Amino acid sequence: MNSQNLLKISRQFGAPVYVYDAEKIASQYQRLTNAFQGVGSLRLNYAAKALSNISILRLMNQLGSGLDTVSIQEVKLGLMAGFKPESIIFTPNGVSLEEIEEASALGVQINIDNLSVLEQFGSKHPDVPVCIRINPHVMAGGNSKISVGHIDSKFGISIHQIPHLLRIVDLTKMNINGIHMHTGSDILDIDVFLYASEILFETAKNFKNLEFIDFGSGFKVPYKKGDIETNIEELGKKLTTRFNQFCEDYGKELTLAFEPGKFLVSEAGYFLAKVNVVKQTTSTVFASVDSGFNHLIRPMLYGSSHEISNISNPKGRERYYSVVGYICETDTFGSNRRINEISEGDILCFKNAGAYCFTMSSNYNSRFRPAEVLWHQGKAHLIRERETFDDILRNQVDVKNLFETPKAEVIK
Ligand SMILES: Cc1ncc(COP(=O)(O)O)c(C=O)c1O
Repeated sequence: MNSQNLLKISRQFGAPVYVYDAEKIASQYQRLTNAFQGVGSLRLNYAAKALSNISILRLMNQLGSGLDTVSIQEVKLGLMAGFKPESIIFTPNGVSLEEIEEASALGVQINIDNLSVLEQFGSKHPDVPVCIRINPHVMAGGNSKISVGHIDSKFGISIHQIPHLLRIVDLTKMNINGIHMHTGSDILDIDVFLYASEILFETAKNFKNLEFIDFGSGFKVPYKKGDIETNIEELGKKLTTRFNQFCEDYGKELTLAFEPGKFLVSEAGYFLAKVNVVKQTTSTVFASVDSGFNHLIRPMLYGSSHEISNISNPKGRERYYSVVGYICETDTFGSNRRINEISEGDILCFKNAGAYCFTMSSNYNSRFRPAEVLWHQGKAHLIRERETFDDILRNQVDVKNLFETPKAEVIK
């Protein structure tokens, strides 16, 4: 998307606003598909948690993607967006048996990541095919908050518990049709994927009725110029060879599944915010925007670095700025960034704003969540209205007279 169109969108719909480029999403989907074209049966299940606007889900469905969901609400959104139940996988962590049963009753593929629920679910529903999430105990991912396949992680069933797992499967007579892992996000090194895949293959040999092996996700996308990214094409070649060889040994063509979030939507997203104040202090020049970590929490939560540019003054002299938000605590989007000279009223553009940005937004400081716009075939479509004061009040119960002092009883 070019800056001119982004600027026009900020004028038409106001700022702050999220903008998503449908063509970029489609090209990322195609790139991943091409990288694994040597696999007989490939399934990409878009991780809804990255960006769950129903129009984005509809786009994914139209591209041929399946859907990876982590809550019953995401399952319902997926169904509303037109996904067939069998194209949805439910991969929750730490949810109740009842929630898993509700998803199962809707016909979606269940993925269970602990022995307690596996035993309960298997005893009650031995006929429902279940996928199991394995924890391969590998350290992968960009930082500790998004590394989820190591020994101290709450996710998955440990590979050391396979004997217990097999006993449950045997006793309940349940059918394990898939095996899954997801070791983290922002994985740089494809060798980590390949190493963890070997553990998954080894584990898979214990199950005779598999239909698919799901390798999760975690592909690293570039956040700034020169940034390292997962070499999808090389991973595609190496994993395809190994997967096909595994299927031959297993005696059946299985489906190779992934559940990418960031890879599909991160770079397709732009967040636009207006500069309210330019403030020179003794040590820093701050540009304060009409937004904060209530809209884009990743820099404060994960220390992630989103490239920031001034699309109102792209030819201006470059200066150093710290870009900050309006939340009443430290709220920094980026420190010491070289940005074209900023004036109050300018529109700043934050890149890589497609994944885990809007979906992590909140009403903190009683602020409105921004609008969302989808750019498709040269046109801007509003896909979520900016919130209003009614949204802040929605569901609040204003109990009348709750704090009124009771009148003193009159003693006769
Ligand atoms: C189980 C599972 N699958 C897939 C994803 C998507 O990961 P990414 O956005 O790195 O592609 C996540 C992210 O948290 C996840 O927890």
